Amino acid sequence: MFREDLLQGKRILVTGGGTGLGRSIAERMMELGAEVAICGRRGSVLEEAAAEMREATGGTVTTHVVDIRVAEAVDEMVGEIWQSGPLHGLINNAAGNFLSRTEDLSPRAFDAIANIVLHGTFYVTNACGKRWIADGLPGNVLSIIVTWVWTGSPYVVPSAMSKAGIAAMTKSLAVEWGPNGIRLNAVAPGTFPTEGAGARLRPSPKLQRSMDDIPMRRNGERHELSNLAAYLMADESAYITGEVMAIDGGRWLQGTGGYSHLVGKLDDDDWADIRDRIRTVNEKDKALRG
Ligand code: COA
Repeated sequence: MFREDLLQGKRILVTGGGTGLGRSIAERMMELGAEVAICGRRGSVLEEAAAEMREATGGTVTTHVVDIRVAEAVDEMVGEIWQSGPLHGLINNAAGNFLSRTEDLSPRAFDAIANIVLHGTFYVTNACGKRWIADGLPGNVLSIIVTWVWTGSPYVVPSAMSKAGIAAMTKSLAVEWGPNGIRLNAVAPGTFPTEGAGARLRPSPKLQRSMDDIPMRRNGERHELSNLAAYLMADESAYITGEVMAIDGGRWLQGTGGYSHLVGKLDDDDWADIRDRIRTVNEKDKALRG
């Protein structure tokens, strides 16, 4: 689909690039010649992913252990990356989410998601943006969001609120930083199954969805998302900025993009079971963090 050297010479940071969609996107960037940096909270997961990505593509990838909720740590990481040369692109992919009744969320639960998705994404974007502006260099930011920014969705309210904030950031900074040659776009993927999202958004067999929910009658394939990201990271798309583009097989237009279908369908026991299943995955993940 693309020239093999489409992203040659570009240096791109992919947050949460060690797993899931972030990893697929990062690997595609490497295939197209970019030098990639990936960051995440679990060092062993990042290292393993990086080794496999080097093997698969023959490209260059560096790993950075960071919790994007910590602004100082983010600035330190971006500064460290800049020491070996400026970045050309940033892909805001790192996120956190889980399905829950909103009345069951503690303030800490809300913060756990909002601090990653809203605050963390801002910290990384601004750490790159201020360096691009200071160095007089162009920059390119792509954020992975969700169609709930347009529709809202029950049971994922902290995520919907935070992703809507990223959409607002994308449009705001496209105007503010446009004169500096910095552009920002966002994509809103529908269902592209990943382990992380499956475990936290569809943790029980009761939550499986029908393909009738998707006008195209199928889930997305990772290469479809990665290729859209590659196009938006390439100079060939240089005049596109401030856009949010859905890639969801038409799902949100059909009104089936979120979790409205669950309203009134689950009882207290179902929610307790969902919570237990999500907790088990979270504990497992936590054990791998430094
Ligand atoms: N229902 C209600 N509350 C929950 C919950 C659930 N299923 N899971 C966690 N929480 C609450 C915890 O009880 C805690 O609040 P409390 O201290 O008041 O009890 C709070 O959320 C923080 O939990 P903790 O496990 O300490 O958070 P964390 O910072 O380690 O993890 C998450 C952050 C919860 C977002 C975790 O899911 C994560 O790290 N996810 C990253 C990957 C991901 O989500 N991928 C899918 C993206 S679609």
